[in-house]
Amino acid sequence: MVNLAKVVAFSLLTIGFFAFFANFGIPEIKPAPPPVDEELDLSSMTMEGFVALGDRIFNGKGTCTLCHNPVGGRAPLLDDAAARIRERLRDPRYGGQAQTLEAYLRESMLEPSVFVVAGFGKAGTSDTESPMPVVSGGGIGMSEADISAVIAYLQDRWGLDITVEIPADVAEAQVAETSMAATPVRPLKSPQAAFTQFACTACHIFEEAGGQVGPNLSRIGAQRDREYLRRAILDPNADISDGFVPNLMPGTYAEQMYASELEMIVDYLAGLE
Ligand code: HEC
Ligand code: HEC
Repeated sequence: MVNLAKVVAFSLLTIGFFAFFANFGIPEIKPAPPPVDEELDLSSMTMEGFVALGDRIFNGKGTCTLCHNPVGGRAPLLDDAAARIRERLRDPRYGGQAQTLEAYLRESMLEPSVFVVAGFGKAGTSDTESPMPVVSGGGIGMSEADISAVIAYLQDRWGLDITVEIPADVAEAQVAETSMAATPVRPLKSPQAAFTQFACTACHIFEEAGGQVGPNLSRIGAQRDREYLRRAILDPNADISDGFVPNLMPGTYAEQMYASELEMIVDYLAGLE
């Protein structure tokens, strides 16, 4: 009897121990929150930081500069567009809802066809349809916060008072923007994107802007043929242009570039005359 009692007591103890352990002993596994960068602290997001975010979105994820650039002429320049945009609101063709510059910018991004700048409409639509994609759509995927950041950036760039507020979900916008920046869509689709991706502009002037570490390439097409250009990119030391030193231009582009990117760049350079 005593033995049986001992066995029972031992069993209960064991069961009790496991029950206790199961409930309290095993640490509960929760999915760890993503590491939070200090920059993402909402209370520390200043308007300056928000403008900088808009700048990066405008020049990166937003793809705005793929079209709004002085090279392609595919879209009106946004460099100094404030006065022009105020006129748009008084244009008899304007049928949108916007009363302010901020509202016009938002509308331009979310409903580009509400007002199409004369001469920039899709071919054959008599300027009733915009070729500009809706920026919140799949291709670009900008959030409300992204859009506000771009507006803040443009207003700041144009020397205007910033009228947007820093939205609550700005941290998400920043996370999304950072992850996009790390993985650009390849192969790249514009020479400008390639020049940024491969940092060509750090050393070369292509149009007006760029570094002067390498030769100015603004009129390179008039001097060099495609074969030369291709070789200059793939094997920079094969020919050294006058007045410049070898081993300065990275010799790694052959491994980094898709063939289509290389040909796009060569086509572009060959056309610079
Ligand atoms: C695929 C090309 C393309 C991309 C990408 C693009 N746009 Fe546009 N955008 C256009 C074209 C073309 C027009 C002129 C036709 C029109 O009025 O919609 C335009 C018009 C505009 C206008 C009105 C300009 C004016 O003078 O009234 C604004 C503002 C604008 N875009 C902002 C942006 C911003 C900001 C982005 C990036 C988030 C962007 N666009 C991305 C092609 C583009
Ligand atoms: C770190 C600076 C640097 C970067 C980045 C760079 N280059 Fe260069 N590049 C040079 C220098 C310096 C020369 C001149 C010496 C030589 O010919 O290698 C040169 C030469 C060239 C030439 C030949 C010009 C001529 O007339 O002979 C071409 C074309 C060229 N680069 C294109 C590019 C392109 C396209 C990219 C980006 C994919 C790029 N470079 C990136 C520094 C750079």
